[in-house]
Amino acid sequence: MGIVKARNKRAEPKRRERGEAFPVKHLAIIMDGNRRWADKKHLPRLLGHREGVKTLKELVKYAGREGLRYLTVYAFSSENWNRSNDEVSYLMELLAEAIRDELDELHSNQIRLSFIGDLSGMPVALRSEFDLAMERTRDNEQLSLQVAINYGSRLEITEAVRRIAEEVKGGKLSIAAITEDLLGSYLYTKGIPDPDLLIRTGGEMRLSNYLLWQSAYTELYITPVLWPEFTPDLLEDAMAEFASRQRRFGGD
Ligand code: IPE
Ligand code: IPE
Ligand code: MG
Repeated sequence: MGIVKARNKRAEPKRRERGEAFPVKHLAIIMDGNRRWADKKHLPRLLGHREGVKTLKELVKYAGREGLRYLTVYAFSSENWNRSNDEVSYLMELLAEAIRDELDELHSNQIRLSFIGDLSGMPVALRSEFDLAMERTRDNEQLSLQVAINYGSRLEITEAVRRIAEEVKGGKLSIAAITEDLLGSYLYTKGIPDPDLLIRTGGEMRLSNYLLWQSAYTELYITPVLWPEFTPDLLEDAMAEFASRQRRFGGD
């Protein structure tokens, strides 16, 4: 029994042994690979998404407990509308269900929940769920969780430019006032520091229109592990890898 137990026991992360906090303040995740996970298990593909929600739930709980400040997850891209109607409706229903089932616990764990993306393109009923959830958790101070829904970076930047142009046209803003910081303040992520680390599960070596502006100097960590199989241990591996990276920001 001893051996089996010892083998299955989760090794205490070195970080925690040393009494250190996560080396990352803002973590972004592209939660990819749900359908491939279902295929691998010979399950209906939609069940992969349901399993993915469970993974997110565990990870949020863990990250919040460990003191992560910001977590931004990619749940539905502006390009994901190109999937079948069945899959899109399933994803919308799953989202509504997840909010309904998890909001109390998120709130009691002091998690601040927000939704980023083109929310105007979302079903009205869901939008009011988003608003209620954001309103209820807005003063929470543990972990700030951003769920990117109908999100696409190019649209985000385009919309920002359009609003800035309107203000210049209306005489409220001078062209000289348009700086990187100003543009950043017109994005959905206003007030949130840029991600230090971006994890993509599922092995694809691309950003898929996610946080393009915000990730200019973000460290990338791509793992072949499919999202439903991602665990707190694997998060610790990514954190350890991040801690060993040398960030130069273009300097020496
Ligand atoms: C990510 O998993 C979830 C969404 C994009 C909504 P996928 O559905 O992309 O699963 P794979 O990548 O096809 O396995
Ligand atoms: C990115 O995954 C979007 C989400 C995880 C929500 P996709 O599966 O949509 O990305 P591509 O199509 O492989 O680039
Ligand atoms: Mg995918």
